Amino acid sequence: MELELKNITKKYKDKEAVKNANVTIHTGVTGLLGANGAGKTTVMRMICGVLKPTEGTISFDGLNVEDEMYRDVLGYLPQDFGYYPNFKARDFLLYIAALKGLDKESAKVKCEELLKKVNLSDVANKKISTFSGGMKQRLGIAQALINDPKIIILDEPTAGLDPKERVHFRNMIGELGKNNIVILSTHIVSDVEHIADRILMMKDGEFIYDGEIKDINMDLEEFYLKEFEEA
Ligand SMILES: Nc1ncnc2c1ncn2[C@@H]1O[C@H](COP(=O)(O)OP(=O)(O)O)[C@@H](O)[C@H]1O
Ligand SMILES: [Mg+2]
Repeated sequence: MELELKNITKKYKDKEAVKNANVTIHTGVTGLLGANGAGKTTVMRMICGVLKPTEGTISFDGLNVEDEMYRDVLGYLPQDFGYYPNFKARDFLLYIAALKGLDKESAKVKCEELLKKVNLSDVANKKISTFSGGMKQRLGIAQALINDPKIIILDEPTAGLDPKERVHFRNMIGELGKNNIVILSTHIVSDVEHIADRILMMKDGEFIYDGEIKDINMDLEEFYLKEFEEA
């Protein structure tokens, strides 16, 4: 599997948020690391087809991001996830399942499976408005997985998770990365240090590092801080 970004540029009026990016992403967990404003969300929204690049093309195994079928292979947890406070968790997942075209029976099975996976079975009948940040985030991850996506985009998914949830989350992401393309963005080095097969680092709209953690000849944290030091 191969997700390819070719000559991708995104301009918001005269602000160039992504500058001629070329990157190919394979199966496994890719950590998209960068300070706030680096361009991570912009890249992810373009990969998910909700934002059109100003220039360039995005494709997955020959399927263009604009193709109808591309959406079927995509799961997305947006950075600002947290809608539908009046839904109960299970009903919300069933709703998303319906939107994604699952039939009733498979939707039911899938939702129970995912509630279990993200540890929300016990609160499945509680309203989302009563959830903690971490619980909302786990529900967000569950909804992203409902259509068994091959490409899983998680924008700052660890925001609001407590330490125990982080460990659980890491295991889950590692599992997903075995057979899928998982891209997760963060501005916190330790979030990706132990789970990412590959690190993409962004700064001011450019990819400034692309490689495996083991190829960075120093502590990742140190490397990151050095890159983001004021010039
Ligand atoms: N809708 C928008 N209009 C104008 N500028 C934007 C918009 N969205 C993001 N930007 C700018 O683009 C840059 C990259 O933002 P973003 O992709 O959100 O970065 P990150 O997710 O790494 O924090 C920032 O300078 C941000 O202010
Ligand atoms: Mg962002």
